[in-house]
Amino acid sequence: MMLNNLKDKVAIVTGASAGIGAATVKSLLNIGMKVVGFARRKERIENLVTNHNEKLFARSVDLTNPQEIIDGFDWVTKNIGPVHVLINNAGIYVAASVLNGELQDWKNIMDTNFMSLAITCKEAVKIMKENNIDGHIININSVAGYYDLGDPNAVMYRSSKCALVAMTENIRVELARMNSKIKITVGLL
Ligand SMILES: NC(=O)c1ccc[n+]([C@@H]2O[C@H](COP(=O)([O-])OP(=O)(O)OC[C@H]3O[C@@H](n4cnc5c(N)ncnc54)[C@H](OP(=O)(O)O)[C@@H]3O)[C@@H](O)[C@H]2O)c1
Repeated sequence: MMLNNLKDKVAIVTGASAGIGAATVKSLLNIGMKVVGFARRKERIENLVTNHNEKLFARSVDLTNPQEIIDGFDWVTKNIGPVHVLINNAGIYVAASVLNGELQDWKNIMDTNFMSLAITCKEAVKIMKENNIDGHIININSVAGYYDLGDPNAVMYRSSKCALVAMTENIRVELARMNSKIKITVGLL
């Protein structure tokens, strides 16, 4: 998809209420896209930009809740339009080693950083195919997904990002085998 073809096309950015996601929202608005931010703190997304020509939308989605994700995509399709670009940016780090950490922290990291992306990728590809959109999915990863940083407290964060490497590559292969022109790539930070 060429950059000059993106005007008024719909982008979804997860984790849009802060950090890299918030900056990504502003960049996509600057190139003329309609941008929907997903995060729990919806009001922070709404207040990111004051003059956005009615192109910024926010949806309260807790990515650890699969139904909220599915409802979010459905809302975007019905109210804004089918998604062309999905930026899977949301991610959390919690210090939680295997030997001294807590199950709930492990689950929160894996659900937010990995499992939610399986759901968003599935929903996005389904909607793109239904609407004949050769879209693009970008999964934000970390060097921790590729290299061991030597910190046992980062084991679940690193595991979630290593798993994301594998999942992104496998989705790419599945799309290629379907002769789909939908792209999936990693954004490495
Ligand atoms: N910052 C870095 O140096 C760095 C380095 C390598 C990789 N990364 C990766 O880059 C991405 C963004 O990092 P960041 O530093 O910009 O993060 P951040 O500033 O901490 O922001 C995290 C974002 O994720 C959202 N989020 C967290 N849990 C969520 C949930 N359950 N449901 C919905 N949204 C949720 C937060 O929104 P709410 O709290 O409003 O829900 C927030 O918008 C992550 O995937 C991270 O692993 C960052």
